[in-house]
Amino acid sequence: MKTVSPTQCPAWAKLAQHAESWRAVHLRELFAGDAARGRQFAAEAPGVRLDYSRQRLGAMTLRLLAHLAAERGFAEWREALLAGSAINSTENRAAWHTALRAGDSAPAEVKETLAKMRSLVEKLRGERKYRRIVNLGTGGSDLGPRLLADALGDGTLDVRFAANVDPRDLERALEGAEPAGTLFVIASKTFTTQETMSNADAARRWGGKAFIAITSNLEAAKAFGADQVLPMWDWVGGRFSVWSAVGLAAACAIGWKAFESFLSGAHDVDKHFAEAPLEKNVPALMGLIGVWNTNFLGAATHAIVPYSNALRLLPGFLQQLEMESNGKRVDREGHALDYATAPVVWGAEGTVSQHSFHQLLHQGTQVVPADFIELNLEKHLTANLLAQADALAFGTGDASLPPHRRYPGNRPSSLLLAEKLDARNLGRLIALYEHKVFTQGVIWNINSFDQWGVELGKELAKKTLTGGR
Ligand code: F6P
Repeated sequence: MKTVSPTQCPAWAKLAQHAESWRAVHLRELFAGDAARGRQFAAEAPGVRLDYSRQRLGAMTLRLLAHLAAERGFAEWREALLAGSAINSTENRAAWHTALRAGDSAPAEVKETLAKMRSLVEKLRGERKYRRIVNLGTGGSDLGPRLLADALGDGTLDVRFAANVDPRDLERALEGAEPAGTLFVIASKTFTTQETMSNADAARRWGGKAFIAITSNLEAAKAFGADQVLPMWDWVGGRFSVWSAVGLAAACAIGWKAFESFLSGAHDVDKHFAEAPLEKNVPALMGLIGVWNTNFLGAATHAIVPYSNALRLLPGFLQQLEMESNGKRVDREGHALDYATAPVVWGAEGTVSQHSFHQLLHQGTQVVPADFIELNLEKHLTANLLAQADALAFGTGDASLPPHRRYPGNRPSSLLLAEKLDARNLGRLIALYEHKVFTQGVIWNINSFDQWGVELGKELAKKTLTGGR
């Protein structure tokens, strides 16, 4: 596996030179001069189409990015990821989330846990003894299941989430609930996270009697007195864990069949990621386009704009996925980096965002690459999405307008489109971003699977609370 700095790779220098030739090129001219551009710069993953024709790149850019990926040893790293090798080097662990959705070829412990989840979910949704399910967790033990439940919950059970240590969060999640009719799911890989443990204690003080724990710390869960414990494994990172028992509350919200389809969707994309040639490999392309924008065109942030209201929580989920994974300042060998890694990821649901931050996207001084996402191809949403992408790309060359009304255009975006917002396509979409993040980690020679940067703040807060500061 390659360990030299990416900036030492021949393709990096060529890309830097190539980027110079793009300074004077406008997307308006590219589309005017090439009727096939919309078709040429697009690729299909199972169920989801990536249209990246509005990115500021051409065939040569793609060729050079493919060279860079080869020089970084992308194929070998991908093989190591998918084989469950210990690629998380600072923790000596695998990052084997793909095994959680591998169907018949999943490890026995995964199948066993899925079978337990299935019978629990079917029982809970069938009996409705507990009408309120409250997930207590934070970060990866909250954002994924919360997104899935919010996007696709069918209302059979009232599934809520509390993540903040501020008691108001749990109070809200318990509004109108009775202890006898409430089941708590404590999702915490470590079972030591202060916010989650404090909410679990508060739930007990409230009168909560039914607790299921999802954790890799079986001892601590037993000591807490959980009625049932479902396992997590050290080879699953928190932000990649929605496919594991961490997804239990979400499965209660959407039903078992839908949860299975969510897993299958991710598996479809795992296969695509493993097998599709680079120029047609959607997550690899997403990763490489991000590298192009960040390292060669100088973008510092990246906007995520899903158009369906059902996906309003996607930006928050992707913030953790991308920024906790690739917000790194040293490489795998511990050397400080002299090139940019993850951009700041942010966003909100369109069309709401059109009336807040799109002003900056169109006329601000920073260029912000955006992903516009619509998984339902709903008429009004798609019309708005296309309008934004086109306005950003082409602007208006109308010089008769006063300066404040002009749109410079040449602002890059990608479209991610699917025919139907269902569990399978949502699984596919999330897996695309997971592999995008992995691809970028390979290019940048960083460990995408640890998160040491969050520890100091935890320690200092603890010290303050225990009077040591
Ligand atoms: O503090 C960051 C973090 O460790 C995330 O990586 C993780 O998803 C979250 O906290 C929750 O951790 P746990 O599941 O162990 O409670």
